Amino acid sequence: MDPLRAVKGMNDLLPEEVGRWQRVEQLCGRMLSLHGFREIRTPCVESTPLFVRAMGETTDVVEKEMYSFEHHGDALTLRPEGTAGAARAYVEHAVHAREAITRWWYLGPMFRAERPQRGRYRQFAQVGAEIFGDEGPGCDAEMIDMLVRLLGQLSIPGVEVLVNSLGGSDTRSRYRAALLAHLTPKAGALSAESQRRLQSNPLRILDSKDPRDQAAVRDAPSIHDFLDAGDREHFAKLTTYLDALHTPYVVDARLVRGLDYYTRTLFEIKGAHDKLGAGSTLLGGGRYDGMIADLGGPSVAALGFAAGLDRLLIASNLDAPTKLVDALVAPVGTDAIISGLLLARELRSHGVRCEIDTRGSSLKSQLRRANQLGARLVLIVGDTELADNTVQLKDLDAHTQERMGRDQAVRVAIDRLIAASRSVDSAPPRPNGDAS
Ligand code: HAM
Repeated sequence: MDPLRAVKGMNDLLPEEVGRWQRVEQLCGRMLSLHGFREIRTPCVESTPLFVRAMGETTDVVEKEMYSFEHHGDALTLRPEGTAGAARAYVEHAVHAREAITRWWYLGPMFRAERPQRGRYRQFAQVGAEIFGDEGPGCDAEMIDMLVRLLGQLSIPGVEVLVNSLGGSDTRSRYRAALLAHLTPKAGALSAESQRRLQSNPLRILDSKDPRDQAAVRDAPSIHDFLDAGDREHFAKLTTYLDALHTPYVVDARLVRGLDYYTRTLFEIKGAHDKLGAGSTLLGGGRYDGMIADLGGPSVAALGFAAGLDRLLIASNLDAPTKLVDALVAPVGTDAIISGLLLARELRSHGVRCEIDTRGSSLKSQLRRANQLGARLVLIVGDTELADNTVQLKDLDAHTQERMGRDQAVRVAIDRLIAASRSVDSAPPRPNGDAS
């Protein structure tokens, strides 16, 4: 490994890209808080047995994709997902004793040792949310509907929602037996991976992309024939609610997803294949009503989702913000630098995002910089302005330039930027009345 290069599958985000990321992160955070979710931050490192217990020993993630290591005798793992840590925190802090329903969201880096490709990385970011204490299916429908709306706000085309029910653990074990009976006679025709999975986790064969496995499961029994009355009612209500909300979805009885903790509702949202290729799954989630008790907590129902931010960014048609600052303060000549620094500080105290060029550059090169930064205003201070405490206020949008007293220039700058922010959504200046 070249020590001067980033680790394979772990990427730098340079400021040009961070602008788009922040836009997407802000829209996610705003949507989640509109639905009453509160942000939690859990550690990036947890004990390895937490993930094994929460996610199941036979999942791909636990079997092959975890970055695990020993430190002073502790078995530790870089978190491959956020649900296990959130559930651990919920149990550890006895949150159920304080509130009947808990809505949490999180955003942060996750780590999986996968083969990197477009949209699949070894360090990637997830935004996710979990609801503890609501058995659904109303909140299941609310979450799916929220996600469809969010993807709309993120300007992501070709969104397709898949839903399924896996039933409770009894349903799962009856279905597992039926699937095993169906697949065992065909075992020789399965891919090597699926032959291995046949005993450990036959449900995963349903979502194999290998044509041999797809042929073998084509006439396999459907999980829907195994759902008990309670499971069936839960799923029927979910689809009734989604219909009432006019949230489009497709029932996919083969949808199983890669993690073992799911019960009943399961969903996945895909984006347009041409943008995302093989990694077209933008997000996934479902119920995991057994996990809190499995981790030593009380019996509390749970539902959640996580979306790969890297994939949302690939799929989104949102542009990067072009206005990096509102104003440039342009001292012409080194004598004007102190006056320029004070002027920039005052503008910033009123919420104006402002850069200053302190190199003593020519006015021409400073105007070029203002254009690069998308600044609307340039406040020029040269020898004449220094002498009589004035400023040249150049408005690059209105194509005007006026000389005025320094205090007046600050007021006019703030007024124009506020007026602009009211008419445009990008809204930079936030006057706070603090003139310190
Ligand atoms: P997951 O399906 O493993 O579910 O991951 C959710 C999303 O994370 C995927 O749909 C994908 O967008 C993104 N993702 C996963 N692996 C990678 C990767 N290597 N590179 C880039 N993006 C990736 C979970 O993680 C569950 N914790 C979701 C959940 C929350 N279920 C209930 N609550």
